[in-house]
Amino acid sequence: MSVLSMRGVSRDHGTGPGLVHALAEVTLDVAPGEFVAVMGPSGSGKSTLLTLAGGLDAPTSGQVVVDGADLGALSRAERSALRRRAVGYVFQDLNLIPSLTAAENVMLPRELDGVRTRQARVEARHALSEVGVAELADRFPDEMSGGQQQRVAIARALVGDRRLVLADEPTGALDSHTGEDVMRVLRGRCDAGASCLMVTHESRHAAWADRVVFLRDGRIVDATPDRSGPETLLQEAK
Ligand SMILES: Nc1ncnc2c1ncn2[C@@H]1O[C@H](COP(=O)(O)OP(=O)(O)OP(=O)(O)O)[C@@H](O)[C@H]1O
Ligand SMILES: [Mg+2]
Repeated sequence: MSVLSMRGVSRDHGTGPGLVHALAEVTLDVAPGEFVAVMGPSGSGKSTLLTLAGGLDAPTSGQVVVDGADLGALSRAERSALRRRAVGYVFQDLNLIPSLTAAENVMLPRELDGVRTRQARVEARHALSEVGVAELADRFPDEMSGGQQQRVAIARALVGDRRLVLADEPTGALDSHTGEDVMRVLRGRCDAGASCLMVTHESRHAAWADRVVFLRDGRIVDATPDRSGPETLLQEAK
């Protein structure tokens, strides 16, 4: 069974002449252990796709199923609980809470999910060290560089073994070496059974994925076949 299944998913914004089809009839499945990259020009609907997959926004039409649960059939509270338990989200604009330290930011989703503080702290330290920023645990976001904040945001998405990791340009502020380290961590998570949907505009990062989905004007215009490796399409896209 897919960890994420999207069926004919559309999201419109506005009405009349101002109507924008941010996403149009997208159908996409992500299997356990699968790492899928999403590429496409600015405004093509990549962030919209992730927002809908993570239940942060509802589609205008179509169905989104996460870990067997139809998001449209859940109450708000049920959707939040599912999100906390099953979905890790790296936002394009990070969304770290400025009044919390790095460790506290990473602990927060676990504590909200009922994990005891001591246990949450252990998990947070582990997640921070996975992305190479363990020494920044007690710093506040405004005391860190953009790349360091980005890694804390990734740690927050990975903590607690979520089954679905949604990452919106998680390497935007990272140098190429650190970016590759983050790819290795995400790849490792997928090899351990998680599913990952990652927006990127860097083909060398997309090359870590099992499959690349290309979006244009809210539609999937091309996708590499399952597990065949994205290299061919990336060559063609150049
Ligand atoms: N809340 C909104 N109201 C109106 N239009 C929106 C809204 N959110 C997104 N859009 C529009 O939907 C389209 C897709 O936006 P989206 O943010 O998904 O693009 P993107 O592929 O993530 O772009 P980028 O690479 O710049 O991050 C764009 O045309 C955008 O202007
Ligand atoms: Mg975006």
